[in-house]
Amino acid sequence: MARVGIVTGGTRGIGEAISLALKEAGVTVAATYAGNDARAREFTERTGIAAYKWDVADHAACLAGCAKVVEELGPVDILVNNAGITRDGTILKMTYEMWKEVMDTNLGGCFNMAKAVFPGMRERKWGRIVNIGSINGQAGQYGQVNYAAAKSGIHGFTKALAQEGARAGVTVNAIAPGYIDTDMVAAVPADVLEKIVAKIPVGRLGQAHEIARGVAFLCSEDGGFVTGSTLSINGGQHMY
Ligand SMILES: NC(=O)c1ccc[n+]([C@@H]2O[C@H](COP(=O)([O-])OP(=O)(O)OC[C@H]3O[C@@H](n4cnc5c(N)ncnc54)[C@H](OP(=O)(O)O)[C@@H]3O)[C@@H](O)[C@H]2O)c1
Repeated sequence: MARVGIVTGGTRGIGEAISLALKEAGVTVAATYAGNDARAREFTERTGIAAYKWDVADHAACLAGCAKVVEELGPVDILVNNAGITRDGTILKMTYEMWKEVMDTNLGGCFNMAKAVFPGMRERKWGRIVNIGSINGQAGQYGQVNYAAAKSGIHGFTKALAQEGARAGVTVNAIAPGYIDTDMVAAVPADVLEKIVAKIPVGRLGQAHEIARGVAFLCSEDGGFVTGSTLSINGGQHMY
């Protein structure tokens, strides 16, 4: 029986590459998204991967969404918490809403989704959870107290849940990407991006598939002895 995996935010950007890499590894994938229906439809037509729409910041929606995936595809063996947003601004300009939206989506989403699938993984004695953190959660970033705090929280969440899953065959790891060529980075002003790339030792942005290969390894049978770790994939920009 093929493993079943959920990739949140799996219909575009890094998430799309992760959905494809897991599919290539033989996993039956459910890719979730928030609101971009046209992109999700195009993704499903092109890849054959089912897309499901719910907000990862909504606890009840995550429980209901995961139950629907189980009903349609089977018990969930793999969870990749990839959905994430930015609402940048210095603390002088950042509103409470900007803080809360990023915390609820980027960090709250990890809790909501793990809460839905972890009990089943534990019961079946096999599971893989990979949380997508960020270099900016490791090093901090000007204008991102919300994003850096949420991503830093993901790294702590990962290590704590890894301890709860270890005896039951459930591994929990994080990947901390550096700057990857996706819509999220395309939103950064060109002059700022140029300065960022100048600081990356390999001299370029990363590609989504370079993150996806790391996720696929952590989700594989061979990844069973790796848990509680953070894999930095950042072109040498931050050697942690
Ligand atoms: N790109 C980078 O350089 C970089 C670096 C470090 C870490 N990361 C992290 O990597 C992850 C993916 O980034 P990306 O650049 O691929 O992002 P992206 O291109 O902006 O795609 C984000 C995906 O997440 C979904 N999403 C957003 N909010 C959601 C919500 N509340 N509920 C469900 N799905 C939601 C989006 O759905 P819709 O299509 O419906 O909007 C989309 O599928 C994020 O966690 C990000 O923080 C990215």
